[in-house]
Amino acid sequence: MRQKILVTGGAGFIGSHTCVELLATGYDVVVLDNFSNSKPAVLDRVRQIAGRDVIRYEADLRDRGNLERVFSEHAFSGVLHCAGVKAIDEAQRNPIKYYQHNFEASLALIDAMARHNVRRLVFSSSATVYGESARVPYREEAPLAPNTVYGRSKMMAEEVLHDLVSSDPSWHIAILRYFNPVGAHPSGLIGEDPSGVPSNLMPHICQVAIGKLPELGIFGHDYPTPDGTGVRDYLHVVDLAEGHVKALQYIFNEPGLLTLNLGNGRGYSVLEVVRAFEHAAGSRINYKFAARRAGDLASYYADAARANEVLGWRARRDLTEMCRDAWRWQQQNPNGYE
Ligand code: UFG
Repeated sequence: MRQKILVTGGAGFIGSHTCVELLATGYDVVVLDNFSNSKPAVLDRVRQIAGRDVIRYEADLRDRGNLERVFSEHAFSGVLHCAGVKAIDEAQRNPIKYYQHNFEASLALIDAMARHNVRRLVFSSSATVYGESARVPYREEAPLAPNTVYGRSKMMAEEVLHDLVSSDPSWHIAILRYFNPVGAHPSGLIGEDPSGVPSNLMPHICQVAIGKLPELGIFGHDYPTPDGTGVRDYLHVVDLAEGHVKALQYIFNEPGLLTLNLGNGRGYSVLEVVRAFEHAAGSRINYKFAARRAGDLASYYADAARANEVLGWRARRDLTEMCRDAWRWQQQNPNGYE
């Protein structure tokens, strides 16, 4: 009998790639998604890649009746909690939505887990929990001082998980702080499909390359970085998905709470990403320099040593591969999942 894993947000960008890795590793997968920012068709693509289907539920985590049903119908060995909302600017305008979807929903999930005696959880957090006071490269024990509503919604969920483990040491929890996941599955069947004009860099570049958007605005070129543009730690989404599986396998046997950065451990500037993409796609990206985006930091990247020490994980795919795979996905799916 295969072990069964619940993936919340399993139809999302990170969730879908993680489902593929879970299926390939031999787990059965149940996806719970409200499809607010994803499409059910994603899961058909996951089946195409993995050769096996996931069991799907369309429901919001805050809908306690449906959550109860999912936990009554399956005996889960663990939960990967990837569901959430993640647009920084929207969060500043609508904090209630962000605390509902990133905090309240997490609380509903762990409440259901506790009642059904499922105590193994991998939680999707973000490097934005560190904020501007932390020294670069970010280490996991750096103080948390997020400067956005989005970052605070993730930090609050992290705090609940700490309290949970303190109150009951039989929980096994991994908090994964993602840096900047980009790229796509090498099949080109699944990838990032933002609705509207993409706010993140890589999907924006892809849409310029395919002709859907006229140009990329580079937010700031007077930062104290080598070329003046913002520096981030981009990592390939398949590396990230592999990190989830390794974290899950680790916590199966290790009680307590483990917090890990998942990043490459080096930073790339916006201009470096543009150049790498141009090289991978063999075409020029139209760009212009624009004003800094409110809330953006100049430069940050991970100290990724702990994930390597504890899980034996490191990001193996380089920036060229990230761009090549993102571009393949965009070309094969000019309108996303439609
Ligand atoms: N950028 C541009 N032009 C764009 C988009 C981005 O120049 O059109 C720049 C940004 O200023 C930044 C870099 O590209 O320097 C990366 O920006 P992204 O928006 O791709 O990503 P962020 O670094 O802002 O990532 C943050 C958090 C993640 C979170 C994500 C959600 O680090 O945890 O936003 O949107 F998930």
